[in-house]
Amino acid sequence: MRITIVGHGYVGLVTASVFADFGNEVTVIGRTPEKIRRLNAGDPLIYEPGLEELLQRNLEAKRIHFTLKYDPAIKNSEVIFVAVGTPTSADGAADLSQVRTVVREVATHLKHGYSIVAIKSTVPVGTNAEMKQLIAKTISSKNQKFDIVSCPEFLREGTAINDTKHPDRVVLGSNSKSAIEKMLELHQPIGGERVITDLPSAELIKYASNSLLATKISFANLIAFYCEATGANAPQVLKAVGLDKRIGNSFLQVGIGYGGACFPKDVKALIHSGKLLGLDNQLLQEVEHINQVAKERFSRSILEKIGSKVKKKIAVWGISFKPNTDDTREAPAFAVIEKLVTAGHAVTAYDPAAMEHAKTKFGNKIALVSDPYAAVAKADVLVINTEWNEFRQIDLERVKQLLKTPLIFDGRNVYSPEKMKRLGFEYHSIGRKTVQ
Ligand code: UGA
Repeated sequence: MRITIVGHGYVGLVTASVFADFGNEVTVIGRTPEKIRRLNAGDPLIYEPGLEELLQRNLEAKRIHFTLKYDPAIKNSEVIFVAVGTPTSADGAADLSQVRTVVREVATHLKHGYSIVAIKSTVPVGTNAEMKQLIAKTISSKNQKFDIVSCPEFLREGTAINDTKHPDRVVLGSNSKSAIEKMLELHQPIGGERVITDLPSAELIKYASNSLLATKISFANLIAFYCEATGANAPQVLKAVGLDKRIGNSFLQVGIGYGGACFPKDVKALIHSGKLLGLDNQLLQEVEHINQVAKERFSRSILEKIGSKVKKKIAVWGISFKPNTDDTREAPAFAVIEKLVTAGHAVTAYDPAAMEHAKTKFGNKIALVSDPYAAVAKADVLVINTEWNEFRQIDLERVKQLLKTPLIFDGRNVYSPEKMKRLGFEYHSIGRKTVQ
């Protein structure tokens, strides 16, 4: 099938590469000449495991290419996906300006005949209907027939390719039978249950999913606060809770909260649309609040321990909002580092992938090193923000020798407190007793 995808972020580029890999002819439209040049040269621009190889393989096979131009891509396509960003606006609403601009542009280039416009961007209920009207208003000929499909995306950064090929479900919202049939055909090699529904339900499924996952995380962190106050062990409590099949174990890992380009934005947007609808949405406000508190408790506990009178050297491991990505949008690590630097301490940070973004964010306010051992050399304390695999079995004896004080604050529970005690560390983690 010939398809076009507008947008080459995590969703657009991964979706495009996967569909190309299944043998489709895919054009990806962007708006920055330098980025389009690099993408055509095989550089995915983002760090996502397996993506560079997948992209290069399909470029070589000439199944994917990148362009700045809507013409002739749109008129040659049976399906056009819109996968541009919907960032948070000042009032918390999803900013739909990119979606509107792109849809208008797509509409002006639709072919004579039949096309499907599928919205992958995360958009509030009512947006697909609005886009349908926008296209109808913009097209110049009655022969430009189209249907709109809401096709929300559920991939996670770090496991994006696998999630796209083997999702739990493919959600398709539309009131057109022929559009659904075409979309089912396109998704045929992709795994997962099919959920065929109407436009508003498809739109809401995405927000409900992300908000429930964020709710699970905040609930787990709330239980961690209880554990810290009572001496109970949060991972054990939550493991037992999650063994109830009705609850499930995933997304109950305690830590310093959720970040990234999706959960914070989507929870805010759902709160905002709830307000517009006059709905009581305190649940999600509390989810956000707990997420904030999780970060603050962590930085406060570090500062309580090391004080703020004497400047200390703090080693930081992990900057990205989660492992296996270089993405630092809404990264809890940024909030933690900010607090430590503001308190007057000297931070030396290491992350396997996110150093560039850290440099852009902090400039020379913090030091960046390309080796985790170099970060801990002569440091008064080690702070862990992201649970990268390479920290799990790192040589902790060496870490202890390099640190000035064997003190660790671990925001992601990477190590076992018993082991750390044996090794002679003072080890603080989340929702578990500190061993000294
Ligand atoms: C999330 C959803 O999981 C995807 O299904 C969705 O498609 C995507 O948003 C999106 O809307 O585009 P992502 O943001 O890539 O994916 O990452 P997650 O793996 O969901 O993690 C989000 C945050 O939650 C991270 O900061 C992670 O550290 C934190 N988290 C996750 C926890 O603190 N505890 C957990 O148990 C799980």
